Amino acid sequence: MNLFRTKDIEQMRALVRASGMAKNLGVIDLILLGIGGVIGTGIFVLTGVAAAEYAGPAVMLSFIISGFACGMAGLAYAEFASIVPASGSAYTYSYAALGEIVAFIVGWNLVLEYTVTSSAVAAGWAGYVTGLFKSAGIHLPFALTHVPADGGIINIPAILITLLLSIFLIRGTKESTRLNRILVGVKLLAVFIFLLLAGPHVNTMNWQPFMPFGFSGVAGGAAIVFFAYIGFDAVATTAEECKNPSRDLPIGMIGSLIICTILYVIVAAVLTGVVPYTHLNNPEPVAYALRYIGYNIGSALVGVGAICGITTVLLVLLYGQARIFFAMSRDGMIPAKICKIHPRFQTPYLVTITGCIFVSLIAGFAPIGVIAEMANIGTLSAFFVASLGVMVLRIRKPDLPRTFRCPLIWLVGPLAVLSCGYLMYNLPWETWVRFIVWCIIGFIIYFSYSYKHSFLNK
Ligand code: ALA
Repeated sequence: MNLFRTKDIEQMRALVRASGMAKNLGVIDLILLGIGGVIGTGIFVLTGVAAAEYAGPAVMLSFIISGFACGMAGLAYAEFASIVPASGSAYTYSYAALGEIVAFIVGWNLVLEYTVTSSAVAAGWAGYVTGLFKSAGIHLPFALTHVPADGGIINIPAILITLLLSIFLIRGTKESTRLNRILVGVKLLAVFIFLLLAGPHVNTMNWQPFMPFGFSGVAGGAAIVFFAYIGFDAVATTAEECKNPSRDLPIGMIGSLIICTILYVIVAAVLTGVVPYTHLNNPEPVAYALRYIGYNIGSALVGVGAICGITTVLLVLLYGQARIFFAMSRDGMIPAKICKIHPRFQTPYLVTITGCIFVSLIAGFAPIGVIAEMANIGTLSAFFVASLGVMVLRIRKPDLPRTFRCPLIWLVGPLAVLSCGYLMYNLPWETWVRFIVWCIIGFIIYFSYSYKHSFLNK
């Protein structure tokens, strides 16, 4: 068995040219997709929990540490994307650099990232919408808006939003980016209004003590708020639909990451400056902070921002998930029949439908709180391997044309590996156990199906 066989980069490029997907995304679309995929539930919910339980006001540092790890991995991703502009992102890169079995497990973990995060986000969307109906005096039936583990039967709103966005994605990437653009505008507006209202009320006394739980609290907080950054890597999965991927992908990924990190640190600073961090352990810390300083529009503002934010996150993640499935199916790792492109819409419609079914089943029926924690570890493991891969390829294929070269690769690469590894190390052990089980299932599928059906066999 040759488990470490690699794919030829020239062949990959030829496949990409022949893929039949519409190529119409520009650099602004990519930056907005990045912001669309990133800013969602994380900033509106996790900032409070991470400050109250882990980092205190130093949650600002937690955001910087997590953003730093993403930035380092993002630079490595960007170099890869400039060499192999193909849909599968880290999965495809690993196939070229590290070998098939590594690529499979990276793809498997990217599927975990996108599927689990999408399901968690769809469930969050359902929660906000049900709440909104309730405040308008309309009580949706409990059994139809909650999963069995919470005493209900099925979470229909979560399934409906997943279906609706999947239809958008099948109809066309351009149409979906237009929807993304509008919703990103609204959610950014919600964040800015919060900063404008709460900014003048910052009391620096609230930042004392800055690090009540020591540095280990800051590191634990960083591992938790990492969720808020998940999604920027989905930009890399757009590679086959960009007008100029080698130039625009690095700008899209790093640009959106910088914008989001700056916003996150400012929001964290204002939140902990307005309210003592000990008050922030509640599901809506931003609305709480606004009420605390006397603005009652908090819940409505956050409601609108969160619903728009969550919608774009779900849209971008469903998009990314379909592209990973597409790349894996094209290589024969999962059934090759599902990588068809729709003749009229020029989108991979069968993989989008497959992803939609998985997400609907999980969001509609599963206790999402328990599995949502696996999103961080799945993503970090993919970043970890991609960062290793970019260094391996520098040694094994130094002459490949790279339109984007990761600056200071021998510093940035190891820093990416170490910082992602450090964040993984700081995740709870239960998450590790579930992650190992997930990887074992992946290996069973690889050895029983994918190895035999891989196109490298033919
Ligand atoms: N980064 C996304 C969010 O915070 C997953 O909702």
